[in-house]
This record gives sequence, structure tokens and C-alpha cells, in this order.
Amino acid sequence: MILKKITTLLALLICLQVNAQYNTMWIPDTLSGTNFNLAIRDTFAQIVNTGNQTITGGINGKFWGPTIFVNKGDVVHMNVQNNLNDSTTIHWHGMHLPAVMDGGPHQVIPPGTVWQPYWTVKNNAATYWYHPHLHEMTEEQITKGIGGLLIVRDSVESALALPRKYGIDDIPLVLQDRDFTALNQFSVVPYGDSMMTNMTLRAQYNVPAQVVRLRVLNAAIERSYNLGFSDNRTFYVIASDGGLLDAPVAKTKYLIHAGERVEILVNCTGQSGTTVDLKAYNSQLAGFIAGGESFPNGPFANALGHIDFNILHLNIGTQTANPITTIPTALTTNVLLNAANANVTRYLTISDSAGVPGILGPNAFIINHRLFDINYIDYNVPLDNTEIWQITSSSVFGHPFHIHDVEFNIISINGAPPDATQAGWKDVVFVKGKTGPTNTVVKFIAKFEDFADPMHPFMYHCHISLHEDEGMMGQFIVANPTSIASNHTTESQFSIYPNPAHDKIFVKFKEAGQSAYYIRITDALGRTILMLPKPELQNGIDISHFSKGLYFMQLTDDKSKQTTSSPFVVE
Ligand code: C2O
Ligand code: CU
Ligand code: CU
Repeated sequence: MILKKITTLLALLICLQVNAQYNTMWIPDTLSGTNFNLAIRDTFAQIVNTGNQTITGGINGKFWGPTIFVNKGDVVHMNVQNNLNDSTTIHWHGMHLPAVMDGGPHQVIPPGTVWQPYWTVKNNAATYWYHPHLHEMTEEQITKGIGGLLIVRDSVESALALPRKYGIDDIPLVLQDRDFTALNQFSVVPYGDSMMTNMTLRAQYNVPAQVVRLRVLNAAIERSYNLGFSDNRTFYVIASDGGLLDAPVAKTKYLIHAGERVEILVNCTGQSGTTVDLKAYNSQLAGFIAGGESFPNGPFANALGHIDFNILHLNIGTQTANPITTIPTALTTNVLLNAANANVTRYLTISDSAGVPGILGPNAFIINHRLFDINYIDYNVPLDNTEIWQITSSSVFGHPFHIHDVEFNIISINGAPPDATQAGWKDVVFVKGKTGPTNTVVKFIAKFEDFADPMHPFMYHCHISLHEDEGMMGQFIVANPTSIASNHTTESQFSIYPNPAHDKIFVKFKEAGQSAYYIRITDALGRTILMLPKPELQNGIDISHFSKGLYFMQLTDDKSKQTTSSPFVVE
């Protein structure tokens, strides 16, 4: 007995020593249901093995945030508490939802404020994510580590024989690279010197000897990763940004750009006791792809440029009960949008700032020859339009172009149909840099349905956060052409009761048929305490956590979009 214990201990020690260069990869906690509490805060974590902890931003934990599981068709409510010392926003990347719930740069959450968006999940089963989107602060806040995965389940995906045991045979992989100062702190730079997989440096993980699903998110500030395995094995791409592909696509390399997600299956059946590395084969990348350049010095110099490096060391162990051991042959039947049904083609350009004198810094890249202006609406999209967006890039660098509100289908890249892995639903498309005299032309098609809002726009931008922050972004309104906002103003549109109140307040409108587009509650000093997009008011507003004092409710009427204010007292 004792001997057995010692042998186990010895085996463990040997094992630890062999793997001393690796750290066991962290797996984010999970949340599921329909009500989600997310508290964002400044915190710290031991990321570098020795020395100081790193100051990070985390949601409900030390860094990054929980993986949220939702079901298609459910109404989900988010309770987002900003405990940072800075304003932020939380954007639900890839979700089809009302613009006022989207969490883009217009839905700023001041420090100390709670933001409560909600929506019906209309997206297909796939891997989405959430992250800060505060204009000019996105790079910094993502670098801190704020973000999380959002996994949608639906009946189509659930009916397939796919690995679905989170952290066991269905493994999230959040890819980022970071630069650490001598004191182990993150520096806010486009490229890091160290690969970080799920916030873990030199990550390793034990996987069972069966089919394993990897849900990969490129959450890097700038870098693309050319994924492949050290034994050059074939893996199978099953899902792109917005849903399953029709069938698994066999690959030995897959290039993932900033903001993109891909789900792959790797068959480890019969390989118990062996190891394999998931790597970024970035030495194979062209110089116009982020991570393919090698800068010896200057602001873009980094230790991972144009080389191959490890993402995750996999130790293949034993099988679980009821393992998946084969790759399915078919997944779903995607009904793609038909170009013949497009109402309009919009022509966008991407270019380098050089040649646009006067207004731009030397490094900026621009869309439609202008920098982002938060007060300028670039496009008005009529509700229910099917549109082709044609992007012509003369930039020498490649840019992952992302659009909010919709998932789209790529029609062509330089005239050719997309590769099978890109032929499903996407919300990011890579627009290559140009190498010769010919511009890159990418065309996609999308339908802008369900959510019209004359006040809050949706964004489109390069998902390299540095470029986005520098102004490589635009915005569009989806408008319902048949609804005309009335100009008629009412002096005070509502009253609040009970007043004084202690745990709940109710809103009574002056006119029948009124409803609230937005409610913002501020305290006597004008600080925002609570933000409620399109609040459901029938059960009142919970103010039980408010301290005693005077507050103001600013209510924007849904029809007129007029905002009026009314005071109330909490005692
Ligand atoms: Cu993931 Cu507008 O962003
Ligand atoms: Cu987005
Ligand atoms: Cu870019």
C-alpha cells in the first residue's frame, strides 16, 4: 500500500519534471440559463510563473470571463456591472440583436453602473464572444484580458454525434499573445512576445483518446494564427463564425484572423500515451498577414513574428465513457442568401492613410477614405434589405473586416468563390493586402432583418483593435422606412411611484400606448447608476441596492424618442 503510494508519487514527480516547461491550461468557468450576472473589475493573476502577479481585467474572476451557454430561442437577460475605474462597453460579437443592446461604442457603461440588455437568441449554434468596444480603448481593455466566450446551442447541432463535454472533449481555446514588462505587467502593444492560450503561458492539456472538438477564438489584438499540428495530421473544420458548415472540411492548416472563430475536430482515437502540439505555422505567412511580418525593431518588433510557435501541448490520455470516435460525414444544410435577391450593392474601400494628407497619422488604415466619426452615419439600411457589400482594398496590409447585426455569406474573393471552410455563415472576412498592382475585392451578402432603430447604429470595422481604435470603422442605421417618428412633444411623459420608494419603483406613462426606449437613472451628482435599454416595466425596477438619496430618471419615449426627466427619492 505504502509502496504503491510512493510509486505513484514518484511517477507524478517524474511527470511534473518532464512537463516542467508547461503550465496546465486554464478553462474558463461556465454560466448557463437565461439570466447572467457579469461583474467587470480590475484584478490580478499569477500569469508569469515567477515574480509579480499581473494586473488584469476580469469578469467574475481573475481574468477573461465565464463561457456563457445559451439556447437558440431563449430570451436572455444580462446584468453587466462595471466595477472598473473606467467606462467600458460589452459587445456581443456575432449576435443578431437590437442595436441598443449590441454593446458597441454607443452603449457606454460608466464606472459603477449596471447595464441590463436582453434579447431573444436568434443565432445558430456556434461559438461567439463578448468583449469591450469603447472607442479608442478597445485595444487597451482587451489587452487587460476582458472578454468571454458565448456558445449558442440549437436543436440541429444537438442532434449530431459531436463532442460536447466542455473542458473534456469540447475545449475552448482563446488565442492571444502578450508582451510582459520586466515587472510582469501587460504592455499595450499590437504584438506580444509570448503566446497565451486561455490566459496560460506554455499551455498543455490532457485530452482523451477519441474525437476532440476545439473551439478556437482569435482574441489577439492583431496577430493571425496559421493553425496546424506538429505531426501534420489532418483535422476537420466543422463550424465558422456563425454556424455549422454543411460537412466537415479536411485540412492540415487553418489560418484564423483577429475576431474569427473556428471549430475543429481532431481524431485522437488509438493514440493514448502520445503527445502532439497545436502550433501556429506563421513562418509560412505572407508579409501582408498580421504575424507574417518580421520587424527587427520599432513598435511592431516581437519575438513571434514570422516564426512557428506552440499554442498548446496536448497529452493524449485514456478514453472517456461514450466517446465520439468518428468524424461525421454531414452536419447541416445551410440555405445561403441568393445574390439575385439583393436590393443594393454597396461599394466600400479600404486604403492606407498615406496619400490622404492632413488628417491622418502615418499608420492609420481607413474605410471609405475617412476616419471613424461617432456622430456620422455612413449608411442607412432599410429594414429587411438584402445587400451585397463589395470591399475593394488598395491597402498593402490585410484586414479582418467585421460587421455587427448580421451573419453573412462570402460571395467571392478576387472573383473566386470562397474555400469550403469559408462558405457558411461568417461575421469576419479577411481582406488580403495587395502585393502587385491589383486591388483585393471581397464581396459578401447579408440580410438586415428584425431590428430597426433610428437612434443606435451598428458598427463595421477592422477587427485588428489597433486599426479600429485608430479609426478604421464606420456605422450604419437600420431604419424602418414605414415608421415615421412623431414630432409631438409632451412636457413630462411619465410619473414614478411610489415616491419616496425603497425597493421598487414603477413608471406610469401619461398617454396610453407609450413605452420606454431607454431609461437612465442618475444620482444627485449626475453619476449614472443604472442603464436599461428597452426596459420591461411591468414588474417595476429593482432599486433595493440603491443608497438613500435623490435620483433622476431620464426616460426616452419609444415612439417620439423624446427624453424627459423626473426625480424620485429612495429612503
Ligand atoms: Cu468583435 Cu465590433 O467587434
Ligand atoms: Cu461585433
Ligand atoms: Cu486593419
